[in-house]
Amino acid sequence: MSSAIEISGLYKKYKGAWSAALDGLSLTAEKGRITGLLGPNGAGKTTCINIICGLVRADRGSVQIFGHDAGTQIQTVRSLIGVVPQQIALFENMTALENFRYIGSLYGIAQVTIKERSKNLLERLGLAQHADKRVGRYSGGMKRRANIIASLLHQPDLIILDEPTAGVDVQSRAMIHEFLKEYQQAGKTILYTSHHLDEAEELCENVVIIDEGRHIISGSPKDLIIQTRKQTDCRKLEDVFLHYTGHSVRD
Ligand SMILES: Nc1ncnc2c1ncn2[C@@H]1O[C@H](COP(=O)(O)OP(=O)(O)OP(=O)(O)O)[C@@H](O)[C@H]1O
Ligand SMILES: [Mg+2]
Repeated sequence: MSSAIEISGLYKKYKGAWSAALDGLSLTAEKGRITGLLGPNGAGKTTCINIICGLVRADRGSVQIFGHDAGTQIQTVRSLIGVVPQQIALFENMTALENFRYIGSLYGIAQVTIKERSKNLLERLGLAQHADKRVGRYSGGMKRRANIIASLLHQPDLIILDEPTAGVDVQSRAMIHEFLKEYQQAGKTILYTSHHLDEAEELCENVVIIDEGRHIISGSPKDLIIQTRKQTDCRKLEDVFLHYTGHSVRD
């Protein structure tokens, strides 16, 4: 299976920071799979995602997306990926549909196509009845689902979601899961971050655990559990995570 994402030796130190956010991070995400990018607070997940989509510049290292270098071919890379940011990136005083019309136009998509794609995605993510309501009046779960739609209007092959289920209820979470599984079955690749390890264990074929900007371990949740069981009592992905990242709280 070929790689959708190939990251090698990524190093990033923010201006004025004491330590590097990414310290030689390398990882791969296979094409057509759901990969979980996991790590404690401050591990470097969002920094990694922001570098992939060109929002943050790495000091060293390389990022290849479907074989395209993110450093030199950022426009091609941007057309191939859809990023769902950790913070909701929608205008609260506009309706969902108005947001999608605006965001779609930034990608140069014809209005008629935006309307058609929005309609389909709004239905699939349970928002069809709310398309003409202001996003500011949406619940947290509705905002998260609308945030996903906004990143898919240009039909990217790779979707990167930064904590798409943070602060959402069980129903919204289940809907997002189903949607991601369907999306993958349609041949797309997914990289997502989450602090819900039970969710990652259920959803991901592969997980990459990072800490302090470095790759710690990766593999299928099942293989990692079996492997870790040789060293400690380990029944679930959370046990693997705690074994490798420790129990101390992060600043
Ligand atoms: N703009 C910035 N300026 C300075 N330091 C930053 C900036 N953004 C992130 N950092 C620092 O870089 C490190 C990695 O942060 P990052 O947000 O990438 O982690 P994360 O894994 O996404 O964490 P979380 O799970 O809390 O979202 C942290 O120490 C953080 O404080
Ligand atoms: Mg983050």
